Amino acid sequence: MGILSHPSILLLLWAALVFGQYEDYDFEDDYGGEPDHQLPYYFNPNSQAEVPHFPFPVECAKECFCPPAFPLSMYCDHRKLKTIPNIPSHVQQLYLQNNNIEAVPAGPFTNVTFVREINLSYNNIKFHMIDHGVFAKLSNLVQLHLQHNELEEFPFPLPSSLERLLLGFNKISRLPGNALEGLPNMTMLDLCNNLLDDTVLKEKPFSNMKNLMQLNLCNNKLQTMPPDLPPSLRHLSLENNSISHIPENYFNRLPHIIALRMSHNNLQNIPHNTFNLPNLLELNLGHNKLKQVFYIPRSLQHLYIENNEIENINVTVMCPTLDPLNIKQLTYIRVDQNKLTSPISTYAFFCFPLIRTIYYGEQNVTVSRPSGLRTPVFRRFLTPEEFQEAEDNQETLNQETEEDHEAEDSYFHPYYH
Ligand SMILES: *[C@@H]1O[C@H](CO)[C@@H](O)[C@H](O)[C@H]1NC(C)=O
Ligand SMILES: *[C@@H]1O[C@H](CO)[C@@H](O)[C@H](O)[C@H]1NC(C)=O
Ligand SMILES: *[C@@H]1O[C@H](CO)[C@@H](O)[C@H](O)[C@H]1NC(C)=O
Ligand SMILES: *[C@@H]1O[C@H](CO)[C@@H](O)[C@H](O)[C@H]1NC(C)=O
Ligand SMILES: *[C@@H]1O[C@H](CO)[C@@H](O)[C@H](O)[C@H]1NC(C)=O
Ligand SMILES: *[C@@H]1O[C@H](CO)[C@@H](O)[C@H](O)[C@H]1NC(C)=O
Repeated sequence: MGILSHPSILLLLWAALVFGQYEDYDFEDDYGGEPDHQLPYYFNPNSQAEVPHFPFPVECAKECFCPPAFPLSMYCDHRKLKTIPNIPSHVQQLYLQNNNIEAVPAGPFTNVTFVREINLSYNNIKFHMIDHGVFAKLSNLVQLHLQHNELEEFPFPLPSSLERLLLGFNKISRLPGNALEGLPNMTMLDLCNNLLDDTVLKEKPFSNMKNLMQLNLCNNKLQTMPPDLPPSLRHLSLENNSISHIPENYFNRLPHIIALRMSHNNLQNIPHNTFNLPNLLELNLGHNKLKQVFYIPRSLQHLYIENNEIENINVTVMCPTLDPLNIKQLTYIRVDQNKLTSPISTYAFFCFPLIRTIYYGEQNVTVSRPSGLRTPVFRRFLTPEEFQEAEDNQETLNQETEEDHEAEDSYFHPYYH
């Protein structure tokens, strides 16, 4: 006994425990059936790396599972739990999703210091059942999942370390003025599928998040564009609100936007130069009431303007000047369910030489009007001559299936979960 120091005995014990359990423990038993329980779900090398010195974690709440191979994670998900178990101090990842938890009291978190990630999604948590300050004291917390709960209010206060906050599918209708202050490191905020309306925008809640890169506000009740968004923003999701207007120069202060999603709103007129955004790759304005097209920035690759009221696509408006040394990057346009009666002018192929697909689909025009559009999709690089030929002889063009179209549509992976 005298030969080995105390820590080395612990190490041996731990090794024996780990290797012993490897033999007969089968992850498949607990997690095999769940589609969201693949290896990456509990393996997070980055956050496991910076482990401070602490006694080996033999501790685990009896309701939960602490995999020997990932001793900093505690799995308490899918267990019909009504309350949060006591959390051992060493835990860095805490999985409590898919239970029946209604309250977040301070008690179980008493000893917690290192926790970086908490997943409390798919529970029944209500705002007034969260002890005031319970999250704020977790000074290492970077990621908090609270989607699919019953929150009526933004769960403030939160720790200033927080980087990703998921609040989708709740009933949040209020964002108290200072609730979102003091979160300088936030990069991603998901508030989709809540009950937010314009009254929450009065206090400019998002303006202080200097590092915010992704803001999801889809499926709410907004009627105007949120004011004073931080210039750091890359992805903005506003689809399925009731926004009817984009103020002139709105995007001037958001030069880094890469993807803008505003389908299912009430947009009618878009100021010509609205999307003069040097980094924009994806623009989705489908299912609005647009009658006209607008300026297309050089960087844009995918344009979705289906289900609008466009009768005529004026390529001169999309592309007022030609610069052969700086060609426009557009490859895909979706324009089905508009009121087009003829294909886009051949000038489009000079302006957007990389165009691969224009999806015309069905157009919403009365049958009495002659339609020059008999083929739903134009494909690949057509020279103007080929294009003309195709127009003259539409039957020779490949008919596309809906699947082809959808494959193209999902080129951009969803950027939020
Ligand atoms: C906190 O740690 C102390 C000392 O190890 C222990 O007695 C107590 O039960 C722990 N509390 C919780 C809520 O885990
Ligand atoms: C959190 O739980 C949800 C619901 O089961 C799951 O889809 C998601 O992958 C989990 N995320 C993390 C980071 O644990
Ligand atoms: C914010 O992030 C930076 C860089 O990762 C880090 O140094 C800083 O401590 C973080 N701030 C807080 C309040 O955690
Ligand atoms: C739009 O949002 C409402 C809830 O605000 C939802 O019920 C509806 O299914 C959404 N529609 C689409 C097309 O996503
Ligand atoms: C297209 O737009 C330009 C510039 O606004 C305009 O001069 C031209 O008349 C329009 N062409 C058609 C066919 O509407
Ligand atoms: C087609 O247009 C008519 C009138 O212009 C409109 O009422 C109808 O909703 C449109 N249908 C679709 C599928 O957009």
